[in-house]
Order: sequence, then C-alpha cells, then structure tokens
Amino acid sequence: MDQSALEEYILSHIDEEGELLSTLYRDANVHLLRPRMISGHLQGRILKMFCRMLKPMRVLEIGTYTGYATLCMAEGLAEEALIHTIEINDEMEDFIQKYLSRSPDREKIRVYFGDAMEIIPTLEDLFDLVFIDADKRLYSDYYDLIFPKVRKGGLILADNTLWDGKVLEMPESADRQTKGILEFNEKVKNDGRVEKVILPLRDGLTMIWKK
Ligand SMILES: C[S@@+](CC[C@H](N)C(=O)[O-])C[C@H]1O[C@@H](n2cnc3c(N)ncnc32)[C@H](O)[C@@H]1O
Repeated sequence: MDQSALEEYILSHIDEEGELLSTLYRDANVHLLRPRMISGHLQGRILKMFCRMLKPMRVLEIGTYTGYATLCMAEGLAEEALIHTIEINDEMEDFIQKYLSRSPDREKIRVYFGDAMEIIPTLEDLFDLVFIDADKRLYSDYYDLIFPKVRKGGLILADNTLWDGKVLEMPESADRQTKGILEFNEKVKNDGRVEKVILPLRDGLTMIWKK
C-alpha cells in the first residue's frame, strides 16, 4: 500500500486546515530547524475535534513550538474557554505571536515562556484537557505534575508515544528520549487511576482518561 497516497487521500477528505495554518506550516518549513515537530493537518484537525466533543473550558498544552496545535485546539473551543500553552524556547516568541495575533481565536490563548516544570505549579486552573508534547525525557515528570491539576473525567493526550517505533528497542541501548517515552508508557499502563488507549496515529497519540 502506498502510504503517502493514502495520507493524501485522507487529507483531501477531511476538513481543510485553513489559510492561517497552511501559511504557518509553510513558513515553519522554510525558516525553522525542526518543522516535523508540528502536529500538522491531520493531527491538528483531530485535536480540534477533541475540543469540539469534550467542550473543555481549561486546556493546557506543554510544548507550543510554533503554536500550530494551540491554534487548532483554540478553534474548537467555546468563546469563554482558555488554553494555556508553555514553550521553553523564547526564540519562538516572534514566530508564535505572528500567527496568534492573526487568529480570530487569539483571546482564548495564553502563552508562557519558560520551563513547564516551573510554570505548571504556578497555574491555578483545574484542566479538562492536557496535551503533553514537549521534552520526551520528562514525560513522566509532566504527568506527575499535571495529574492533580486534571479534573476527574478530564483527558490527557500525550504525543509521540510510539517514538518512531523506537519503543520496540531494547531499553539498555535506547537513548534518553526513548527511555523517557518507555518509562512514561509503563507508568500510564500501570496507573489504575486512568483508562488509556494508544492511537497508532502519526507517531503515536495516547489518550488517558482520569477516572
Ligand atoms: C514537539 S514540539 C511541540 C509541537 C506543538 N505542540 C504542535 O503540536 O504543533 C515540542 C516543544 O516543546 C518545547 N519544550 C521542550 N521542553 C520543554 C519544557 N520543559 N517546557 C516547555 N517547553 C518545552 C520545545 O522547545 C519544542 O518547541
């Protein structure tokens, strides 16, 4: 089966990402070093759909990068809802602001620059939806930190949990990022406080529902 033809077919049969996001995506591919980190068209529409379905009032994203996923989630949120997004690399500020400022959903978005490990404890909200998408070595730490801040019945999404298939490698030979993902996947698997499923979407997206 031709995977890229199938992907093209999917993208031509789902909602378009829209002019702002496609411009952001092209801009990132021309000017940024790691554009592959962006959620992209399919995952972006899925994130928006999660917001449409769950109607979260408070969302937390760990790892903003360009703001692509932030904008997708904001599109699916009610007018009064808020998304807090944290990015450690303040060199992304101009890029992020360039696109956020053009979005009709900009009022729903709060961007924080700094280490999520330091910023999360300062956030007072109780979250309905959390999207973990930052440093793979710290996934378990993010999880422990946010867990008390997720309401019962809330959803945690974690991106890249199949890590390019590297989760199948022997842990001894694995790099620290792979080890981080392996540790996170084991932690979630053994956590009786949640229901979980790994979607084999893109690089693996784990859905974790707090009981
Ligand atoms: C995969 S990208 C995020 C992509 C974005 N969520 C999307 O879907 O389009 C990961 C981002 O997390 C940021 N990051 C890494 N460690 C972080 C930390 N401890 N706190 C906040 N951001 C972090 C990186 O600088 C990078 O921009």
